[in-house]
Amino acid sequence: MNKKKIESEYKKKIKLIIKYNKNYYDVSNPLVTDKVYDDLKKSILNLEIKYFFLNSENSPSKTVGFKPSKNFKKIAHRVPMLSLSNAFGKEDLINFEKKILNFLSKNRKFNLSYSTEPKIDGISASLMYKNGEFKTGLSRGDGKEGEDITANLATIKDIPKKIDLKDFPEEIDIRGEVFIQNSDFENLKEKFANPRNAASGSLRQKNPNDTKKIPLKFIAYTFGYEKGLKIRNQIDFLRKLNDWGFKTNPLNKLITGVENLLTNYNKIEKNRTKIDFDIDGIVYKINDFDLQKRLGNVANAPRWAIAHKFASNKAISKILNIEIQIGRTGALTPVAKIKPVNIGGVIVSNATLHNEDEIERKDIRIGDLATIERAGDVIPHILSVDKVKRDNKLLKFIFPKICPSCGSKTIKEFNNITKREDAVRRCTSEGYDCEKISIEKLKHFVSKDAFNIDGFGKKIVENFWKLNLIRLPQDIFKLDFKKIEKLEGWGKQSMENLKYSINQRKNISLERLIYSLGIRHIGLENAKILSKYFKSFSKFISFSNEAILDDILNIDGIGGTQLKSIKNFFDNKVNLNILKELQKILKVKDAIINNKNGLLNEKTFMVTGKLSGISRAEVKSLIEVNSGTSVSTVTKKLNYLIVGEKPTKKKVDKAKEFKITILNQSQFLKMLNVSS
Ligand code: IVH
Repeated sequence: MNKKKIESEYKKKIKLIIKYNKNYYDVSNPLVTDKVYDDLKKSILNLEIKYFFLNSENSPSKTVGFKPSKNFKKIAHRVPMLSLSNAFGKEDLINFEKKILNFLSKNRKFNLSYSTEPKIDGISASLMYKNGEFKTGLSRGDGKEGEDITANLATIKDIPKKIDLKDFPEEIDIRGEVFIQNSDFENLKEKFANPRNAASGSLRQKNPNDTKKIPLKFIAYTFGYEKGLKIRNQIDFLRKLNDWGFKTNPLNKLITGVENLLTNYNKIEKNRTKIDFDIDGIVYKINDFDLQKRLGNVANAPRWAIAHKFASNKAISKILNIEIQIGRTGALTPVAKIKPVNIGGVIVSNATLHNEDEIERKDIRIGDLATIERAGDVIPHILSVDKVKRDNKLLKFIFPKICPSCGSKTIKEFNNITKREDAVRRCTSEGYDCEKISIEKLKHFVSKDAFNIDGFGKKIVENFWKLNLIRLPQDIFKLDFKKIEKLEGWGKQSMENLKYSINQRKNISLERLIYSLGIRHIGLENAKILSKYFKSFSKFISFSNEAILDDILNIDGIGGTQLKSIKNFFDNKVNLNILKELQKILKVKDAIINNKNGLLNEKTFMVTGKLSGISRAEVKSLIEVNSGTSVSTVTKKLNYLIVGEKPTKKKVDKAKEFKITILNQSQFLKMLNVSS
């Protein structure tokens, strides 16, 4: 057969499978038997393996089930949907508890109780109820804004549509997981890669009748916004959910102490396969709502909860190559290209090797047989290599001493905190001088927590870079859309969509903008702190004078490492130019200072000495919640010095010299109407 003939044969088959797929979801009666469908699917996959030039968006190798729609209305969550930090073992749990006790200033003997909830691997949703009626249902989206999938959620039987009970709050967002039971997935196996994909795909159908055909389930576990909720802890809340008609996880339990958490974890992990839905770990939440409130959040995740992941699935495969990836901050990360292997339903062909030291320590070589581990949504990594089976011709891997992208020297920095050389080797070039770093910086710029440009994914950044369409962040706002429309795989509609998403993001908060710049050591939390300090983009841009530098160091949360990195950023002419260009294009909203009417509005505080029953971190968070600022040095501008036990004499003397008001702990708490 010649190429043309093969292609036309292939296209015919693709057309047919589109038709079958459509019928499977649109009409109750599928057009063909499962066997006919499977054979067609197999023959398409076989053709693709045989002839590399065959490729279609609609191939079953690319699509899972029927195509999900992108056109849902976006609605802001009244309370953001957070994610969870992960723990992988006892040590992480001990640390988690230690941090909580420190924050709450409790001693080690204090008993913390946790609501422990097996973590279902599905799709989270937020259901808004008003006067007992289900009004709107949103997907998680980016955590701040979700998609309006009300009609699809309404097809799920487990979701109560009307709750006529006196103790049901006047308004509440009930949150939980939409998923498919493994037994139900058996019948969907041919259409989707795994139960999670099936749940996600069917929830995002344009036509709710398509969603209805998939037996989706809903389990509730938390709430967002509420008005009139009279419950004090998580376990009681879960019980109440049942009373109100929601399903909850039957394996939820109240547990005290890390040892008991581990016993429960081991028991559930052992019986994991006997449960009729996929769980990828156990969520631990501090049970008491008052403690949760005191603990608050860091960036995207609560301080009071963690997901204890199950040890994953493992597989053995051959290391075909070791490639060096260059990250946004110049870090050289080795990645093992492995012979594709199925680990727990996902085909894995890359595994991270972390850094140079890791390769050295585990003596990993190209050609080795390696054990690869994949835990939940974490990037697969190499556990060990089989040295017995190793061919003795295999050479030790030599880590590159120059950057494979730009040829600059690579170095391991000396870490002033650990007093040791870093494990990570870095390219020494200045940001945008190195091609790979530039590409990664641009990917970061458009990513979810940064500019969040819909449809501008990593692949598009790479593609546009190759085509010379983008080099610096400002180029994103000056794209030649006529050219894009004519590119392969693009058309009028997709071009218009991209143009629209880019234009939409020209209005941006200062916090997001600072984060988007990808300044090393300035993550979401620090970007927020800096935005509150600078307040406006123009102030941020005219950063570089020395007085500001000193002042910045005085902000709690910004240390020497961050300061050095910010300084480096502003010392670079390319960066200054980027800021100037962005200023011309963007409309940057001034930082919103939380709750301007807070009791400590515009006042600065500093603590010296040990306080009783309350940690420094909590004092800081209390100050901020009440619109005050917490600083780290005594200057003339300081308003209050809070003095605890054994204060630093120098600080108190300085405060007296500057005539700063000195408070003891109870005087400070009184300012907040909190009793000590
Ligand atoms: S609580 C504020 N509870 O895990 C805490 N999440 O990584 C955030 N999940 O997006 C949610 N079971 O999809 C919570 N019992 C449970 C959960 C659970 C599964 C998922 C949820 C969330 C993700 C966080």
